[in-house]
Amino acid sequence: MPWSTRRRTVLAALLASLATPVLAQSPRAAEAVTVYKSPTCGCCNDWITHLEANGFRVKAVDVADTRPYRSRFGMPDKLGSCHTAMVAGYVVEGHVPAREITRLLRERPDALGLSVPGMPIGSPGMDGPEYRGAVDPYDVLLVRADGRTTVYASYAAPRR
Ligand code: CU
Ligand code: CU
Repeated sequence: MPWSTRRRTVLAALLASLATPVLAQSPRAAEAVTVYKSPTCGCCNDWITHLEANGFRVKAVDVADTRPYRSRFGMPDKLGSCHTAMVAGYVVEGHVPAREITRLLRERPDALGLSVPGMPIGSPGMDGPEYRGAVDPYDVLLVRADGRTTVYASYAAPRR
């Protein structure tokens, strides 16, 4: 085989070997999100739509009360919202933006998970036409196993 052909073959093999692990490591492709929510929760469904639009696979589980799931997963009640989700062993409470979940799965911090407590208007799933573009500033909290929190990301209201 001429040297130049062999070099191309080696290069192609190298590229193929690089491409495969990158795809396999993509958290979006690998990780499914399980969401525990009440069957009548509209903003929960809108948040699920937001996750799916960002490439996550979502399994929704309708439950009468999400609080037992929160306590089972160790998410403090004071950080609670309308739904509790699990992804790759992390707890995701409330209307957390998909980009922060992607970041969590990339950075893999030593933590319980993320929370957006309450239901701030303008967060994903709380941003439908009925809110007329209103946005309350809110923080995405990184929650440690002992319940302590640090700010993982801050979302500010747009300037008018
Ligand atoms: Cu909600
Ligand atoms: Cu919800």
